[in-house]
Amino acid sequence: MLVVSTVSELQEKHRHLKKAGSRTGFVPTMGALHPGHISLVEESVKGCDYTIVSIFVNPTQFNNPDDFKHYPVTIESDLSMLRDAGVDLVFMPEVKEMYPEEDNRVFDFGGLDQVMEGKFRPGHFNGVGQIVSKLFDFVQPDVAYFGEKDFQQLAIIQYMTRALHYPIEIVPVPTMRERDGLAMSSRNMRLTAIEREQAILISRVLFEAKERRIRGEALVGIKAWAEGEFAAHPMFELEYFDIVDAFSLQALHTFDESDNPVACVAAHLGQVRLIDNIRL
Ligand code: PAF
Repeated sequence: MLVVSTVSELQEKHRHLKKAGSRTGFVPTMGALHPGHISLVEESVKGCDYTIVSIFVNPTQFNNPDDFKHYPVTIESDLSMLRDAGVDLVFMPEVKEMYPEEDNRVFDFGGLDQVMEGKFRPGHFNGVGQIVSKLFDFVQPDVAYFGEKDFQQLAIIQYMTRALHYPIEIVPVPTMRERDGLAMSSRNMRLTAIEREQAILISRVLFEAKERRIRGEALVGIKAWAEGEFAAHPMFELEYFDIVDAFSLQALHTFDESDNPVACVAAHLGQVRLIDNIRL
């Protein structure tokens, strides 16, 4: 496994790896890897001839400087997991390599960035657009893999790929969960032992929301019930529990409005902000 830190090394090594007609798979990450990331890598290793992974904690997507400062960094274990998973090339640039000049580009995501995460984390998706477009330009993959846990990010990347005509297939990969249901996330590392125990509330509410939908309960009832579960918990501060259409991401008022409803949640547990979602 080769590890490089500059765009020119990345492009030179990629030229060597790539043979005519071969498929390059790409998994962008911010490091602090867990089995959820490795499931994206495994999809790429299975479906492509070469797999490139980037590790870069992108400053422009953090609207909260404290969140950026405390983002977990676990390079040694990241590299060992990637080696074991069969990755060919790891791109690990410094900030000045990715942003030699300030990036002032402003992206139009057709309104997909105006709801949920976009409302609570202003500028976040513009930063994601800046870094992912640069990574797509530098890596030039045939296929790129994104986790469904970041459901809104996935929808926005799919939109950007279409809008900017990137010849890249975007492959969504299902969320991996811990045994108790908690969605795997790098941010889970920052939970205290007691917070980690309580974090199960998020997936429990999502799974029960799905049960309630199957039993025929109305959308407004499910939303009010879910919000009540978070309000009743002394350690959680809910930002949103929205049921949205999977494609427009617009909030629904009844299940008649969409064939693809998804429940999405963001909540603070102590110092950690967690998100999760489930298709209803
Ligand atoms: O999902 C992430 O880890 C990041 O948002 C991404 C796609 C690597 C861009 O920094």
